[in-house]
Amino acid sequence: MIAVLASGEGTNFQALLDADAAGQLHATIALLLTNNPQARAIERAQRANIPHVVIPNHRDRNLLGTAILDALQATSVQLLCLAGFMRVLAPAVIAAYPRRILNIHPALLPKFPGLHAVQQALTAGVTETGCTVHLVDEGIDTGPIILQERVPILPGDTEASLAARIHAVEHRVYPRAVKLFLSTATT
Ligand code: GAR
Repeated sequence: MIAVLASGEGTNFQALLDADAAGQLHATIALLLTNNPQARAIERAQRANIPHVVIPNHRDRNLLGTAILDALQATSVQLLCLAGFMRVLAPAVIAAYPRRILNIHPALLPKFPGLHAVQQALTAGVTETGCTVHLVDEGIDTGPIILQERVPILPGDTEASLAARIHAVEHRVYPRAVKLFLSTATT
């Protein structure tokens, strides 16, 4: 079973839900966790009949981690998928799910880790960026890469236009990465 952590729109969560409904993942999405009671991801979970838990958005990373672990306790989760979860996970969460946490990031890591990755790419003046699905370790967007896909930066691109094209690619890449990961992961 998969638990998804999302803080906002949840379009990547939706892509995972759609792939699950189409039988394209090697596991079922069982739970949404969010640190944002206003997250659109909650509506997506409700529409898909997936339970959700709103965890308190503790500023302290370790307290947030404890809340995440508590919320996950009742579910036997084999994979955590971060889908626009905009907080760094506590070491205790990573230790509880070793090599079992995936994240999607809107850049070709190791380039442009952290916040505002789309704007970082525009500011750097590069001609292409992309998205990356990677395993989460204790660094910021540093874990082993599962899949990446390039997205060209076009003349006149704004953060919004480029983010929209990256999103479209992410929605393809994330379900593929989950399937690939689960088909090769040892239990
Ligand atoms: C996605 O573009 C994802 O790559 C990014 O947040 C967006 C969430 O969109 N994640 C990060 O920047 C993590 N560092 P969504 O809520 O529509 O899936």
